[in-house]
Amino acid sequence: MKTITTVAEIRAALLEPKRAGQTIGLVPTMGAFHEGHLSLMRRARAQCDVVVVSLFVNPSQFNDPADLAAYPREAERDASLAGAIGVDHLFAPAVEEVYPPGFATTVAVAGLTETLEGRHRGRAHFDGVSTVVTKLFNMVGPDVAYFGQKDAQQALVIRRLVRDLDLPVRIEVCPTIREPDGLALSSRNARLSPDDRARAAALHRALDAVQQAVTAGERDPAPARLAALAALRAAQIEPEYFELVSTHTLAPVERIDGEVLAVVAAHLGATRLIDNQLIHPSPIPDREVATLMTAAPTAA
Ligand code: PAF
Repeated sequence: MKTITTVAEIRAALLEPKRAGQTIGLVPTMGAFHEGHLSLMRRARAQCDVVVVSLFVNPSQFNDPADLAAYPREAERDASLAGAIGVDHLFAPAVEEVYPPGFATTVAVAGLTETLEGRHRGRAHFDGVSTVVTKLFNMVGPDVAYFGQKDAQQALVIRRLVRDLDLPVRIEVCPTIREPDGLALSSRNARLSPDDRARAAALHRALDAVQQAVTAGERDPAPARLAALAALRAAQIEPEYFELVSTHTLAPVERIDGEVLAVVAAHLGATRLIDNQLIHPSPIPDREVATLMTAAPTAA
């Protein structure tokens, strides 16, 4: 596997494969790889002729400079993990390569970005994600790009920008990978104290509590949400938000008649975690969940 740091080099490396009609898969990441990232890479490896993993800690999507400074950077370990999976190119540009002096353009997706993470982290977060992902797509020119369902709102925003800007790339949203106790894998988990790590499993229990209520026949989101809040409270977690929202518009739902998305964000100590789960009146296996997550969103 080669590590490439410039746009010119990654384009040159992909020129021949593209001419030969080979499919290019891109896994955009900010590094500090865990099993969640590796599962995206494996899926790309299984589906595409050439696999590119981008590793770029994107400053423009961090609302808190301390969070950016503390973000784990493990370039050598990341390179060996990606290499072991058979990734062809690790594209790791410097900040100046992505944002050269005078950089002045922002890609902003309206509607889907104003709620949940956008409300709590600020609109600039999704502007930063949308801008860098658009740039990565233009730099690499992938046929398929892989994202995790754990960042469900991000996935919906990217699907929307791809549709709105007619970008010729298919977006695959892959299932969240979890620890045995249900905690969603995240690069931030390493920052949890042992006590907070133990409490963090309550996020998944809260999401499960919604599914259990719905499976038992509850169709009103308010009591289902209360069951989730009780599971969080039992672990002394006061969420930043816990909502049941439409999988297409992210607006709160008034009834749970079909598939909805339960979303949660909470601070455990200094670490902010997010998670989500698709909730359905009749539970469906993960593979189908991932398929539903890739369905084109309708108007926000
Ligand atoms: O999900 C992430 O790691 C980042 O938001 C992404 C998509 C790589 C953009 O910086």
